[in-house]
Amino acid sequence: MGLNMIEKGVEVAPANGKLGILLVGLGAVSTTLVAGVEAIKRGLAEPVGSLTQMGTVRLGKRTDNRSPRIKDFVPLAALDDIVFGAWDIFADNAFDAAMKAGVLEKDLLNQVSEQLASLKPMPAVFEQNYVKRLHGENVKSGKNKMELAEQLIEDIARFRAENNCDRLVMVWAASTEIYVEESEVHTSIEVLEKAMYDNDPRIAPSMIYAYAAIKSGVPFANGAPNLTVDIPALTKLAEDHKVPICGKDFKTGQTLMKTILAPGLKSRMLGLDGWYSTNILGNRDGEVLDDPENFKSKEVSKLSVLEHIFQPEVYPDLYGNFSHVVRINYYPPRGDNKEGWDNIDIFGWLGYKMQIKIDFLCRDSILAAPLALDLALFMDLAQRAGMRGVQEWLSFYFKAPQTAPGLYPEHDIFIQLMKLKNTLRHMRGEDLITHLGLEYYD
Ligand SMILES: NC(=O)c1ccc[n+]([C@@H]2O[C@H](COP(=O)([O-])OP(=O)(O)OC[C@H]3O[C@@H](n4cnc5c(N)ncnc54)[C@H](O)[C@@H]3O)[C@@H](O)[C@H]2O)c1
Repeated sequence: MGLNMIEKGVEVAPANGKLGILLVGLGAVSTTLVAGVEAIKRGLAEPVGSLTQMGTVRLGKRTDNRSPRIKDFVPLAALDDIVFGAWDIFADNAFDAAMKAGVLEKDLLNQVSEQLASLKPMPAVFEQNYVKRLHGENVKSGKNKMELAEQLIEDIARFRAENNCDRLVMVWAASTEIYVEESEVHTSIEVLEKAMYDNDPRIAPSMIYAYAAIKSGVPFANGAPNLTVDIPALTKLAEDHKVPICGKDFKTGQTLMKTILAPGLKSRMLGLDGWYSTNILGNRDGEVLDDPENFKSKEVSKLSVLEHIFQPEVYPDLYGNFSHVVRINYYPPRGDNKEGWDNIDIFGWLGYKMQIKIDFLCRDSILAAPLALDLALFMDLAQRAGMRGVQEWLSFYFKAPQTAPGLYPEHDIFIQLMKLKNTLRHMRGEDLITHLGLEYYD
């Protein structure tokens, strides 16, 4: 049995007491999550887009009529038991940050203003070189990166005590850092710790948060494309400390559409000449991604999806030669309301060419907030079930799912969902669903 998996029907500790969700970054996604949870708790809105809150899981045969809500099937923390904490380089409380992000309407924010205003970000671990476009004052100082990690570990302990939390999880919803490749300082915990003492520039702020979380026994989910916890030093540390980790990059707008459509085209053996994707985006995320070094992190995470789904090496005639282009353009007037265009050049029977055009007028943080909620709840569940290390069953939520070394990521959203639900069935000692269905024709 792998370290990140569990025995069938394992005992899962109940979700008693409070769950603290520690958000790195209190920007558009985080404030939309916090305000949304408060609004849902008061019955002002529905948790649309959240699998943990609205999804069901079929058990047994199709004729059994057993499809409980996921939240009734596995013991998840209740929304009433959640308390939020955050770090940000800007000192704005969650109400002011949400107003600036401009995702939710003022009317709704005013109805939950008290809870939002009471959430004030702790000073962040930040390095200008990693996010060139932002300049904030709410930043920690320390003589080296290990000292900064220790300050985060103190923040975590203080938050846990002051809020009377039984359990904590950490979600990275801060700006995308510049692209960093894995190098020797990331290979083992010993060299990583030495590099932290030496202030090595290859240790990103996000790695310092992940290190502090794991050392504190807190599960860590990475919503951005930065390398962060996807390095051997930290995956090993997570296994040793029995902490679940997962990433990278919330799968929302355009990539979500890709991983819905591409498996469908491939299932019909339709060929692909090219897939051109472009976006306009005007929020702070768009501003950060306007810097080529930060965009590079995003580009790498977005590009890998089609290669893996279409398997050009297995189907050279259909997918051996397609071109895939992804662009993001910062365009302030649109704010968080992104517009994503896709032009897909496909071919069918006898090579006859066709085109598909998509124009997705989406809302970035409306799509991302429920993913952040689900990840926090499922990571807390995983920890109570004794799971540790990389949680590949949560690939469903990511553009570039983290996997065991040497394993290619599964991008097909339908396979990802089946994997997630089968993991829950397995956890509860239920039969897995294979969709073979022979029993109906005995
Ligand atoms: N649909 C989506 O919105 C979506 C999808 C996938 C990934 N993401 C990623 O999620 C992240 C958050 O997106 P957003 O739209 O909320 O961005 P945002 O710019 O509104 O918020 C990010 C916040 O992080 C803060 N920050 C930056 N560096 C920090 C650090 N080292 N420590 C603490 N805080 C820090 C910034 O000050 C900012 O307030 C981005 O990396 C984005 O690429 C978002």
